[in-house]
Amino acid sequence: MIGQRAEAIAHPNIALAKYWGKLDEAQNLPAVPSLSLTLAGMSTRAAVQFDPALSADAVEIDGRPATAPAAARVAALLDLVWQAPGGPGGARPPAAVQSANDFPTAAGLASSASAFAALAVAASAAAGARWSEAELSDLARRISASAARSVFGGFVELPAATAVAPALSARPLAGPEHWDLRMIVAVTTEEAKTVGSTQGMLRTARTSPLYAGWLAVAPGIFAAVREAVLRRDLERLGEAAERSALAMHATALAAEPGLLYWNGATVELMAEVRRLRAGGLAAYFTIDAGPHVKVLTVPEEVDRVRDRLAVVPGVLRTIVARPGAGARLCSVAAQPGESP
Ligand code: PMV
Repeated sequence: MIGQRAEAIAHPNIALAKYWGKLDEAQNLPAVPSLSLTLAGMSTRAAVQFDPALSADAVEIDGRPATAPAAARVAALLDLVWQAPGGPGGARPPAAVQSANDFPTAAGLASSASAFAALAVAASAAAGARWSEAELSDLARRISASAARSVFGGFVELPAATAVAPALSARPLAGPEHWDLRMIVAVTTEEAKTVGSTQGMLRTARTSPLYAGWLAVAPGIFAAVREAVLRRDLERLGEAAERSALAMHATALAAEPGLLYWNGATVELMAEVRRLRAGGLAAYFTIDAGPHVKVLTVPEEVDRVRDRLAVVPGVLRTIVARPGAGARLCSVAAQPGESP
């Protein structure tokens, strides 16, 4: 029934094998395979209600009207949901959308992943569609490829596109119970990043002389990450995850102009993680398109690792996350006055 307000929750995911580069920009198809861990402890809640009485979409993010580019991405997702086979079809009515994160937006903490996964689930329920998780993942992927992974919990893989085919979904590799790891997020700024991941990827592909090398090594790094996850081999996983992040950033740094997502604290944190490891602790870093550093460790060592990261100059705070669940619907409620 159209008019119902649906609310969903999703968690960010952090890629251990990075997605960086598109096979096709219009279809938003990844050029390399990626593998991520969905995190509990940080979340986006999104609510959607289609309402023909509105004159236009009303999109709020973190309690404020969305910027024009953010509202356009939300509208693109709503259009996809409306027009997809199994959706209502025809002209889409305007929608009221509220999305709220409990962690910094657009700072390399994959807020678009949790936001578009939550929005895909909420919008499809609000539109009265019943899609599988794979179909929801494919819808979310069209707006933000990493969002395809947040539809699922635990360890999740998103294959590379091999042809410009319309459908591509993430798939769960192992649930959150498979391996009780910890991911410590060392937050180094509250500012939004200056170059978003789509722009960064396009610039890298067009101008970085290292992009061909990245495309050549990424599938092998992904395979090493995948194997290590299945075997629960932290040393191999951590080393491959660091290799993935460093190769991605090296490629982006060599673009023109160079994409420098790091700040001083990012570099200090990488060095500190290597020192922790030299001292016998399990700690491995990864970095997305922003200056925060995410450190993989085990529950028994999380307090010691966190204490050391927290005092690195420039670290504002740390967040400890554990493997989390996939996106899910929280509520669907009819508009007052409507019969269910
Ligand atoms: O899905 P996007 O367009 O937000 O790109 C995500 C890119 C990285 O976070 C840097 C890597 C990844 O695989 O999540």
